[in-house]
Amino acid sequence: MGGGSAPCVLSVFSLCLLTCSAQSYAVDDQAGLGRTFDGVGGLSGGGATSRLLVNYAEPYRSQILDYLFKPNFGASLQILKVEIGGDAQTTDGTEPSHMHYENDENYFRGYEWWLMREAKKRNPNITLIGLPWAFPGWIGRGKNWPYDYPDITASYVVSWIIGAKQYHNLEIDYVGIWNERSFNSKYIKLLRYTLDKNGLERVKIIASDNLWEPITLFVLQDRELSEAVDVLGAHYPGTTTVPEALKTGKQLWSSEDYSTFNDDVGGGCWARILNQNYVNGQMTATISWNLVASYYQDLPFGRDGLMTAQEPWSGNYVVESPIWITAHTTQFTQPGWKYLQTVGHLAHGGSYVALTNQRGNLTIVIETMTHDHSVCIRPPLLPYTVTAQRATFCLKGSFASISELQVWHSKFDFKVKKPVYFQKLSPVKVSNGSFTLDLDVDEVYTVTTITTGLKGNYPEPPPSSPFPKIYKDDFKVQHPDFSEAPDFADQTGVFEYFINETDPGPHVYTLRQVVTQRPITWVADADQTISVIGDYKWQNVTVSCDLYMEEENGGGVFVAARVDKGGGSVRSARGIFFWVFADGTYKVTSDLSGQSVLAEGQSGTRANIWNTLTLSVKGDNAFGELNGHVLWKNAVGLVPKNGWAAIGTSSFQLAQFDNFAVQAE
Ligand SMILES: *[C@@H]1O[C@H](CO)[C@@H](O)[C@H](O)[C@H]1NC(C)=O
Ligand SMILES: *[C@@H]1O[C@H](CO)[C@@H](O)[C@H](O)[C@H]1NC(C)=O
Ligand SMILES: *[C@@H]1O[C@H](CO)[C@@H](O)[C@H](O)[C@H]1NC(C)=O
Ligand SMILES: *[C@@H]1O[C@H](CO)[C@@H](O)[C@H](O)[C@H]1NC(C)=O
Ligand SMILES: *[C@@H]1O[C@H](CO)[C@@H](O)[C@H](O)[C@H]1NC(C)=O
Repeated sequence: MGGGSAPCVLSVFSLCLLTCSAQSYAVDDQAGLGRTFDGVGGLSGGGATSRLLVNYAEPYRSQILDYLFKPNFGASLQILKVEIGGDAQTTDGTEPSHMHYENDENYFRGYEWWLMREAKKRNPNITLIGLPWAFPGWIGRGKNWPYDYPDITASYVVSWIIGAKQYHNLEIDYVGIWNERSFNSKYIKLLRYTLDKNGLERVKIIASDNLWEPITLFVLQDRELSEAVDVLGAHYPGTTTVPEALKTGKQLWSSEDYSTFNDDVGGGCWARILNQNYVNGQMTATISWNLVASYYQDLPFGRDGLMTAQEPWSGNYVVESPIWITAHTTQFTQPGWKYLQTVGHLAHGGSYVALTNQRGNLTIVIETMTHDHSVCIRPPLLPYTVTAQRATFCLKGSFASISELQVWHSKFDFKVKKPVYFQKLSPVKVSNGSFTLDLDVDEVYTVTTITTGLKGNYPEPPPSSPFPKIYKDDFKVQHPDFSEAPDFADQTGVFEYFINETDPGPHVYTLRQVVTQRPITWVADADQTISVIGDYKWQNVTVSCDLYMEEENGGGVFVAARVDKGGGSVRSARGIFFWVFADGTYKVTSDLSGQSVLAEGQSGTRANIWNTLTLSVKGDNAFGELNGHVLWKNAVGLVPKNGWAAIGTSSFQLAQFDNFAVQAE
């Protein structure tokens, strides 16, 4: 055990050298217990963070799901929180609404239903949570605001919960308000009323998925609101809460946390906050944004998930350290267990928590993460020190007669990079009611009566490889579980499989952009719709696609190459965009907003017929073809130099796409 000053040998026995000064910590339930533990979870969505996961071939897709959800295998997650899709950009893409239009209802869009079913299949006890980030435009009746017609918004959200049960037999346990945006007391009460009216008294409300303030003050001052809200959920609380939140008597959750690059510092961040969110802030659940990094890494917050699965084309995925850090808590607890009151900080840095099922089982989780090896993306972490130390735990009360405990160990290693994750050590004998651990820095221990822990393992997945240089989709194979075509990552608008049964020709199966009104946004969606695909490093590519404008007035569609931005910056995306319009014109621009024109002219294109556009870009040169004939060439001033391929429309309008193909150099 390098790095520490204590001259102790690695020992989990209570016999220790006299030269070591052991600090002792009581683990005791005689003075009563602490708060009820609600679980550790992952968040899919907010937005489109599981986009690429669904496109993995078996057996890899099931393996990834097992590492996330299968009890006593990997992360064994106890909570799955998902986005209630709102047709708008919510960080790494858009997720479809179950009601694009007021008279529309469809509970088979997107991949969150599928993900919830897969999670439940593995762990029937998993807690399910839904939260909107954005709403389809009709909810706001023209305003970018969901609370002017709170009854409409409440019915819309409750219909998602009813649909989950009706079409997927999924019972949603908790629902939130509006992610990291304003709440409205009247709306929250109406949501409670609407849930109850529909026999959904069991569905609990989390408020407000933002900061501790101002929701806590509103809850303290408004009895009816207090009765409507079950859990106060804060985001990125930095392990602390505020006195007012404690005063409400509500369960306190870190309802979104982590958001850190999933290398070992990310694992260290997760280890520290999983313990200290309770020790410092009395929070009884912590949920990671995001569940699994399954989106193009060059989109915002690349790889900020508990594990990485961003290459469905190769089958490669990586079980990162946060998976095993999660297991230290989840494999040895269940929601409903109680924290002990005897939890806290260790004398020389680090922390410990203890939990019990009140039937004699005990789990202690200890972490000694140093500052620099556990910084999360936010908030800033004040300096502190951790040194190697000897710690004696004295078991009292119901635990006094325990004679042996299982030991699971992780040790991050930032020097020679030989970390150990979630390794089972020999059980520790409890002698005279206590046991002692020699703790080095950057370690996690679980000491527990639970004997079912297991480090699950699958053979190595295939090696990583870039997105294929030749890629085609005619949209004829439409997977019944998903509404979107593989690998397309919608950044504004929603592109869905479409079947035109009355089409006599070759375009029965297409991809259709279906959002016809600007949604109530979470960030600044573009005024155009766009879906990106491929390799961000692509420079020299030919992109071609058949396009069909359904709108005669103002209709326009494009293919693009070298698209450099998505996510919240999609409005400022640059690239090479080749547009045709229903008014018989074409345009070539170096931006999605269409301001920066490289070429333009007549094309003879119109709505309700199919056209084939081909865009070829090589070095500093580009040319475009319409239906096999060169329409423009020698476009100059090509920036940026690389980026994704893309398709899209000039506004929120219906349009179809078929026979998409890319060939990259
Ligand atoms: C589900 O919960 C029940 C009751 O707490 C428990 O007995 C059972 O072991 C749990 N199952 C899993 C897979 O965690
Ligand atoms: C056990 O505890 C008793 C009472 O505190 C003490 O006298 C004795 O020395 C302890 N034995 C060992 C092996 O630590
Ligand atoms: C604790 O849990 C295990 C299952 O892991 C069980 O066998 C045991 O009886 C439980 N109770 C105690 C007191 O350890
Ligand atoms: C479906 O195909 C028919 C026949 O080609 C065409 O008239 C109609 O516009 C198509 N509908 C859509 C929505 O594309
Ligand atoms: C793209 O083409 C240009 C011009 O031929 C060449 O200089 C450049 O190296 C090519 N880029 C790649 C990634 O092949």
